[in-house]
Amino acid sequence: MSERTDQLVSQRGEMFYPPAAFAQKAHVSSMEQYRQMYRRSIEDPEGFWAEAAEGFFWSQKWSDVRRFNFKRSQGPIDVQWFAGGKTNVCYNCLDRHLATRADQPALIWEGNEPGEDQVLTYAQLHEQVCRFANVLRGLGVKKGDRVTIYLPMIVELAIAMLACARIGAIHSVVFGGFSAESLKDRIIDSQCRLLITSDGAFRGAKAVTLKLIADDALDSAAGEGWRVDKVVVARRVGEGKGVDCPMTAGRDLWWHELMEAAAPVCEAEWMDAEDPLFILYTSGSTGKPKGVLHTTGGYMVYTALTHRYVFDYHDGDVYWCTADIGWVTGHSYILYGPLLNGARSLMFEGVPTYPDSGRFWEVVDKWGVNIFYTAPTAIRAIMRMGDELVQKSDRGSLRLLGTVGEPINPEAWRWYNEVVGEGRCPIVDTWWQTETGGILITPLPGCTPTKPGSATLPFFGVEPALMDDEGKETSGNGVSGRLVIKAPWPGQLRTTYGNHERFETVYFSDFDGYYFTGDGARRDEDGYYWITGRVDDVINVSGHRMGTAEVESALVSHPAVAEAAVVGFPHEIKGQGIYAYVTLRLGHDYSDELARELIEHVRNQIGPIAAPDQIHWAPALPKTRSGKIMRRILRKMAAGETSFGDTSTLADPTVIGTLVEMKSK
Ligand code: WT7
Repeated sequence: MSERTDQLVSQRGEMFYPPAAFAQKAHVSSMEQYRQMYRRSIEDPEGFWAEAAEGFFWSQKWSDVRRFNFKRSQGPIDVQWFAGGKTNVCYNCLDRHLATRADQPALIWEGNEPGEDQVLTYAQLHEQVCRFANVLRGLGVKKGDRVTIYLPMIVELAIAMLACARIGAIHSVVFGGFSAESLKDRIIDSQCRLLITSDGAFRGAKAVTLKLIADDALDSAAGEGWRVDKVVVARRVGEGKGVDCPMTAGRDLWWHELMEAAAPVCEAEWMDAEDPLFILYTSGSTGKPKGVLHTTGGYMVYTALTHRYVFDYHDGDVYWCTADIGWVTGHSYILYGPLLNGARSLMFEGVPTYPDSGRFWEVVDKWGVNIFYTAPTAIRAIMRMGDELVQKSDRGSLRLLGTVGEPINPEAWRWYNEVVGEGRCPIVDTWWQTETGGILITPLPGCTPTKPGSATLPFFGVEPALMDDEGKETSGNGVSGRLVIKAPWPGQLRTTYGNHERFETVYFSDFDGYYFTGDGARRDEDGYYWITGRVDDVINVSGHRMGTAEVESALVSHPAVAEAAVVGFPHEIKGQGIYAYVTLRLGHDYSDELARELIEHVRNQIGPIAAPDQIHWAPALPKTRSGKIMRRILRKMAAGETSFGDTSTLADPTVIGTLVEMKSK
């Protein structure tokens, strides 16, 4: 942006400026400084990123800052950062801080039940991680081995991940809300021999099992020829809460018993900068979820730098990201980014509505949280409960608010700003993805004027572009298109686990020479980015990605279902809900009971986040003459629209009338 557009900005619509008091103390305190740093990061990426990397401990320095091929037409896609360098992410998260902040909190754990908490200092976390790293080594886990972690938000989750990183094992965290079937798929795809889980989990007022689900997953994996040798079980719920935890002799081992016997000292394994750090599965538009693979050096530098600048993190700040570590947000911005910066990172086990919808603000006051990062779906859910639950808290410690996961509607943005932040906390609307490893488009809170609903401008080193319908890059402002990134950044995924071809097809085949995000976006007159949502068959449910194909195949696996077509529709709290058109097999009848059964079936197959909100019985689906389902029409109908555009290419246009009729049933 030029100075001129800066001035125009203030005249055009709603703009919010960082309070002067905030800007004064910020790492980046003027747009001029942002532009200067941004320009340098693009013109001299090697210099910029080398400087960022120098703040870390490397047992051997890199030889090349960056090597890459982003053009499929010129050979395999290949991205390397800090090649030749050796380091260890766990060492940089923990050991590096021991000299200066051994007794400072690293993790502040707030339990599901108010009053239940635990603080682990850097020294304590370091010791626990070293012990568990020794446990893993004792169980035969070596550098490069995959370890699946299926745990609730308890400190063992953080300890297990860091212990893997310490010995060079690749962790694959599976969100605790996923089903046995989903867990099994991820275990088999990652070919892991060790699983870490817990007896159960607390979710609000309930205790739920995890071990029985894990056992189911392991049984069905064995049925498909994949055997896991050892299962480490952390005790979270204990006895007397109705949560069974059968232990299989010779396979299942208790976490606490192993830890007691383990030595507290463990050398870190020096990893090549491009050695894998973790795999995290995410849904796409086709097929089963893919294992997004992140590596060591680039991810480390990128998550730390973004955490420092985007959250304007200063030494001593209490920082809270409310995500679950089972998603990338938790990996990058509860665990790695904050600990790399020596932060006090709050880890919350519970849910925003337990014991009531004021819980977030109670926790903010209890720990004096300065930086608070959450999702639009949580903001909307709390907003609905009224302002009183917020206003009865103090929140005087809050300095900065953040949001991530989906486009935030301006109404929720304004409420977050006025009611939660009382107009004194800048809001950073951060756009990124599992694949990007860290935040790519975002305001910097000390300088960027914000507009409710816009993720604003690119972070350092990030070159976004918008592609038009002809596949050409659009130029200038006031344009929309498909959002792509033109050059590599250190935090990006390197491949999809075990399938580089799929990686190239999904991200690099639509536009040669560009990483394709799957999102559509608009760049307004001021150069600000507005993400308009996915342009592929992926639904964003409460900030989590769900492939329509995955839900469809879960539905079709039910014996009553002949065919299913799933689309997203606007949902007040979730952002998008799941809307399923279902055609039954002959001999089955439409009923409310069957609808409930199908919803339950999907829940069991994938997990609660995939459960359809609506079942729409479809005697037939609108198809083209070549048999392709016309989702455009289904989306419109799900959204409650009554005109469906051009339907002349349908094989049988009368299908529409029938569907509309069924909707009212
Ligand atoms: C998709 C990525 C990365 C953390 C959580 C989600 C959508 C994410 C925003 C935002 C508009 C957003 C995009 C993206 N998204 N953040 N601030 N504004 N849309 O990670 O599950 O990999 O999903 O979430 O559609 O592609 P994910």
